[in-house]
Amino acid sequence: MKITVLGTGGGARAHIAKLAGLGHEVHVGTRDPRATLARTEPDMMGTPPFKEFLAEHPGIQLHTFGDAAAASDGLVINGIDGHNAVAALSAIADRLAGKTLIDYAVPFIYNPDVEHPWPTPWGIMPKLEPVDTDSLGERIQRALPDTKVVKSFVTQEQTTVVDPKAVGDGDHTMFVAGDDADAKRQATELLKAYGWTDVLDLGPLVCARGMEMYAHMHSAIAFGLGQQFGGHFGIKVVR
Ligand SMILES: NC(=O)c1ccc[n+]([C@@H]2O[C@H](COP(=O)([O-])OP(=O)(O)OC[C@H]3O[C@@H](n4cnc5c(N)ncnc54)[C@H](OP(=O)(O)O)[C@@H]3O)[C@@H](O)[C@H]2O)c1
Repeated sequence: MKITVLGTGGGARAHIAKLAGLGHEVHVGTRDPRATLARTEPDMMGTPPFKEFLAEHPGIQLHTFGDAAAASDGLVINGIDGHNAVAALSAIADRLAGKTLIDYAVPFIYNPDVEHPWPTPWGIMPKLEPVDTDSLGERIQRALPDTKVVKSFVTQEQTTVVDPKAVGDGDHTMFVAGDDADAKRQATELLKAYGWTDVLDLGPLVCARGMEMYAHMHSAIAFGLGQQFGGHFGIKVVR
């Protein structure tokens, strides 16, 4: 398949490499391909310049967000920074029409000025916006009424999402939520190709609220495990 990944960050790279390894034609979206390829310094997460990643993964095609979306034959993964995703995706709504968009972004606002900050090993815990009564997944769906949005992947490091057996021999749970049954089936098939055996359909897209709000619990568990910079664990729904 021709699959598009919108985003060049660390999480997006996990999907790009895995999808290429599975034999898909992978198209990657960035704001400005020339600027992305000109970068020589790691980003704030310490992720090396994208040019280095491309050199290790020949055959990956880098485009603008819009051209990358248009290149997909049906499946697109959103890895655009959560705070900027709605604006970036709205601008290319026509090129995403009719496609399935799997969104794993978290609507984090970094370094928030809050009354009761949560100190972490790297600074202040980011704030979620929207939260509780809305979610990023739902905002994206409202902005893209002709696209089938599925929220998934978001409860894990993406390196584990693409390689679930790296933790507990794969005996843990991944979630999907969305309003279109076929789109959720597509997302579930992709997860099975990644190696997931326990994919729990939470129901409608409104359940994205729960998945996104889990982000803080994910961090808290990582702290408890002494894994301060990106957790390497899974969660299992026992039933
Ligand atoms: N990394 C993980 O394992 C993981 C796990 C769960 C959830 N998440 C969430 O998933 C999202 C993506 O994470 P990630 O690690 O793949 O990448 P990221 O570093 O959070 O985001 C990088 C992407 O966001 C784009 N971007 C940044 N600012 C933008 C702006 N103002 N307008 C448009 N695009 C902008 C960048 O565009 P350029 O390509 O042009 O630089 C880049 O493609 C985040 O919300 C993150 O919290 C990540």
